[in-house]
Amino acid sequence: MKKNELVKILEDKGIEKNEAKAEVELVLETVLGKTKEELLFIDEFNDEKISDIINKRIETKKPIQYILGFAPFMGENFIVDENVLIPRVDTEILVNETINAALNINKDKIKILDIGTGSGIIACIAAKRIKDKKEVEIIGIDNSTRALHIAIDNMKKLNLTRSVMFRKSDLFSNVSEKFDIIVSNPPYIPKKEYEKIQNEVKFEPYDALFVDDDKGIYYYDLIIKEAKNHLEENGLILFELMRGQFDFVDELFIKEGFKNIEAYLDVQGIKRVIKASI
Ligand SMILES: C[S@@+](CC[C@H](N)C(=O)[O-])C[C@H]1O[C@@H](n2cnc3c(N)ncnc32)[C@H](O)[C@@H]1O
Repeated sequence: MKKNELVKILEDKGIEKNEAKAEVELVLETVLGKTKEELLFIDEFNDEKISDIINKRIETKKPIQYILGFAPFMGENFIVDENVLIPRVDTEILVNETINAALNINKDKIKILDIGTGSGIIACIAAKRIKDKKEVEIIGIDNSTRALHIAIDNMKKLNLTRSVMFRKSDLFSNVSEKFDIIVSNPPYIPKKEYEKIQNEVKFEPYDALFVDDDKGIYYYDLIIKEAKNHLEENGLILFELMRGQFDFVDELFIKEGFKNIEAYLDVQGIKRVIKASI
């Protein structure tokens, strides 16, 4: 079968064209062990494993990353299952700004807390990119034991046992240290949106995505109120945001006396990341 035909099978089942193309490429790269560029030189894909995976995708409607057992993010393949959120491209902005912030702090050793670490993508990529330039210690916390098992597997796979640690904690409940940076991509989708979201997203852990309040700012509020006790002098907080949340979170920061508040935009011009200092 040709690549376009495989894409068409998914499109005919309601998967959006670009998404279908990305999924087929991921399946082909995985099964054949080839890069996107190498795939350009192959016309026909008749491996049985490829059709099995595509069929499973159609029959179960599960996200392809859960079927394959991993998700690519910032150049690495992260182990994922239904206990963790699938990494989103949007989160690259948060990770990149965390790395930039860490490298700009005038200290030889940087301590970072990643709240709601899930599969550990933020902690692992940040550690991997910072550790070559300065000493870094990152603690990733989550209240889901199952998610933490996945995060630990990812940390080991990426050989980051010296710079990354994971710990079970309900927000700061099990955290007594102070950090230079607190980073978080917390659950932020108001639960009233649940019925409107894509079916595939319903396979992801509900508690990783949804919050009870109408604006989706429940976790930002809790973290900002407690963060002062856990930040070093001039410490920073970085959050990922959903469209429309910047002004609310900006206000929460101002109310708690934070300063130097900045927004970082995604490709659509949405304020995706907010950064503030104590
Ligand atoms: C949106 S996911 C982010 C996962 C990952 N950091 C990422 O960016 O892909 C939010 C994470 O917060 C965790 N979480 C939810 N409530 C929490 C709480 N009270 N304390 C700690 N973690 C929590 C969820 O288990 C989930 O892993």
